[in-house]
Amino acid sequence: MTIDYAEKIPNNVGLAENRTLQRALEHWQPAFLDWWGDMGPEGTSTTDVYLRTAVSVEPNGWAHFDYVKMPDYRWGIFLNPVEADRTVNFGAHKGEAAWQDVPGEYRANLRRLIVTQGDTEPASVEQQRHLGLTAPSLYDLRNLFQVNVEEGRHLWAMVYLLHAYFGRDGREEAEALLERRSGDADNPRILGAFNERTPDWLAFFMFTYFTDRDGKFQLCSLAESGFDPLARTTRFMLTEEAHHMFVGESGVGRIIQRTCETMNRLKTDAPAVLRAAGVIDLPTLQRYLNFHFSVTMDLFGSDVSSNAATFYTTGLKGRFEETKIADDHALTSATYPVLELRGGELVSVEAPALNALNEKLRDDFVKDSKAGIERWNKIIEKAALPYRLRAPHKAFNRRIGPLSGARIDPDGSVVSEAEWTARVGDWLPTDADRAFVASLMGRVVEPGKFAGWIAPPAVGINRQPVDFEYVRFG
Ligand SMILES: [Fe+2]
Ligand SMILES: [Fe+2]
Repeated sequence: MTIDYAEKIPNNVGLAENRTLQRALEHWQPAFLDWWGDMGPEGTSTTDVYLRTAVSVEPNGWAHFDYVKMPDYRWGIFLNPVEADRTVNFGAHKGEAAWQDVPGEYRANLRRLIVTQGDTEPASVEQQRHLGLTAPSLYDLRNLFQVNVEEGRHLWAMVYLLHAYFGRDGREEAEALLERRSGDADNPRILGAFNERTPDWLAFFMFTYFTDRDGKFQLCSLAESGFDPLARTTRFMLTEEAHHMFVGESGVGRIIQRTCETMNRLKTDAPAVLRAAGVIDLPTLQRYLNFHFSVTMDLFGSDVSSNAATFYTTGLKGRFEETKIADDHALTSATYPVLELRGGELVSVEAPALNALNEKLRDDFVKDSKAGIERWNKIIEKAALPYRLRAPHKAFNRRIGPLSGARIDPDGSVVSEAEWTARVGDWLPTDADRAFVASLMGRVVEPGKFAGWIAPPAVGINRQPVDFEYVRFG
């Protein structure tokens, strides 16, 4: 099914047949556009960008690429098709037909899950709104804008569910999603990592690698939901999410490549020499990695959580790849290891698996993250250099859960407050690191040209050449 772009709100949910819902969403639309104008990418009111727009939900051929004036981007509502005879696949309702409407007793919890997911989407647009001014190339600028418009569409996806299934409370939540602001002291976004700044392109690439990957894992577990409209919405969001993680992985990879070339050319690994040559030294990359990894770890929530147990047992939020796991999908007697601080040592203890579902999802995320870090290491290895990047220990620099506030180094050893203070500058980006990275940021807008600290990509977008004019300034 191809989506009709003549409609005010492009959709594949039959909006024209539901006048009340259509009117409610058409009422929200101008508020969204105002928000985009205020908080979306800065200085893009006349910018023409080579963007992909979803035109169907067919696995092959869902995307259309063309120039779009940024303010004219068409955000639509797309759900994957209904799967015949789909059932609830876990928890107390396992085996029942999947719900096409919200079960009354689960209404508040479902709304909370949708609002929490929905809040991250505009938050990242807000975090990234100044980055266009310092893009290292037109190719990268286009990728930034692509991520931004799709996060806007993900907000639409969640707002559709709120409007369609949650009545008045849903409409109020949809308005509040446009009112909170990333980093605002009085009305911040819901989750910590979405209130951090994304001040430079290294932070952007780390964010899209790690934090968009949290998005992938959250969406994957919501895609298992017994509430079928949520499952179908999030499944389609995942197809878009893959590109966001690609932007992060390839962006960091290209920075590594340029740094390694410079290390070999100058025959040095001295950070000061490399910085003077205009590239980002590998230890600084490691510190950025440690920061983004650890703040993203916190997004999974408390290690032991009765809410996570409730969401699972009631069929609202499953595990990553739930239906591929060979167990009873009820978890009533299973256990799962979690970390605890006992007598000054980190120890692994068995917790009820139902309560440890956040920890399980976090572990799935860590595994996926590490695979990409190894691909980055291949670039260093290929340059015949000995340095290796690695994920810090999962207890490092935590702010949420029983390990929050504990002083644990990237290897997982408990350290004293004094040692932490003495060494934190080796582990997390310092003000000087951030100032150095900021000093490299400058806008490069000539087609095919790239800032000196990042290598060009191997191939362009949608089989266009690397020197294609991905963005035109009006
Ligand atoms: Fe998203
Ligand atoms: Fe994303």
